Amino acid sequence: MRLLITGINGLLGQNLVKEFSHDHGISGIDLNPGIYPESESITVAQLDLNKTADLKRHILETAPDALIHTAAYTNVDKAEDDRDLASAINAKVPEELALICSEQNIPMIHISTDYVFNGDQGPYREADNCDPRGHYAESKYAGEQAVLKLGGQVAVIRPNVMYGHGRDLKSSFVAWLIGELTQGRPVNIVDDQYSNPSYARRLSSAIRLILDKKAWDVWHFGSKEVVSRYTFALKVADSFGLPTDLISAISTGDLNQRAPRPMRSGLICEKLKQKLGFPILNIDEELQLLKEEMNAT
Ligand SMILES: NC(=O)c1ccc[n+]([C@@H]2O[C@H](COP(=O)([O-])OP(=O)(O)OC[C@H]3O[C@@H](n4cnc5c(N)ncnc54)[C@H](OP(=O)(O)O)[C@@H]3O)[C@@H](O)[C@H]2O)c1
Repeated sequence: MRLLITGINGLLGQNLVKEFSHDHGISGIDLNPGIYPESESITVAQLDLNKTADLKRHILETAPDALIHTAAYTNVDKAEDDRDLASAINAKVPEELALICSEQNIPMIHISTDYVFNGDQGPYREADNCDPRGHYAESKYAGEQAVLKLGGQVAVIRPNVMYGHGRDLKSSFVAWLIGELTQGRPVNIVDDQYSNPSYARRLSSAIRLILDKKAWDVWHFGSKEVVSRYTFALKVADSFGLPTDLISAISTGDLNQRAPRPMRSGLICEKLKQKLGFPILNIDEELQLLKEEMNAT
């Protein structure tokens, strides 16, 4: 089996490589050359997904058994000013990919987000009404809807507040927090944004299960309990033996962020557990797994 992974250098991309590289051939696409040593089983093409003709040619040449689309314009605040680019990457690219995949009969996993919901009354089930707020949210919603509209062998997975281990990652809340607390620097964390964070290593295992079972549907993935970001930060500090007294609670309004955030978010993951038998763990269990993963590398 050969998988094609877009955004292979990103947080989820790297975790998918960990999940699949021992028993799959992997072709990756990313804007930058990549972080993987030359090998027969992992090859990375430096390619802008917006270049549709090049993208199509590359997919035809690679002829993957499945495509996992993780790449996105992920800077939520910058997307407010950079609307055309955010829409191109988050809405147009998934649509093009879904078209190519459906023409070539290639199963596609598309990564969406909890931002498709307005965050007024979470946590949300897969079938709940979407109401994206802000341009990142709207563009991601347009992307997942375009993919779902084409249908066929397509699964859409929505994580929220993703974290995990990886190399040279540009933005990872947990890695940043551990870094700050290790250096003894105080941090301010919002206590009014709620989510059930998604551990990227286990999300990658869930993606394997969805592919194995050909579970073409919409799936939510996160941890068992919904907590504020402040509580999550305390849990991270506890798990890694770092000082919790450096963490102060602030409110979202204090940050003056450009884009709105889903405040009462969170994703109910019962469907993944009930239909596919995938165990949903609590945050402390997943942080323990992250710690083991970090110690092992
Ligand atoms: N991180 C979260 O908290 C979170 C939460 C919910 C959902 N998600 C979704 O999960 C998915 C994966 O997120 P992530 O955190 O792993 O993202 P990430 O770390 O930002 O990785 C995305 C990768 O895609 C690349 N990329 C961006 N535009 C590209 C283009 N035009 N052509 C080729 N490659 C391009 C990026 O390159 P550059 O770095 O050079 O731009 C980056 O290496 C995304 O779809 C995101 O919307 C993320």
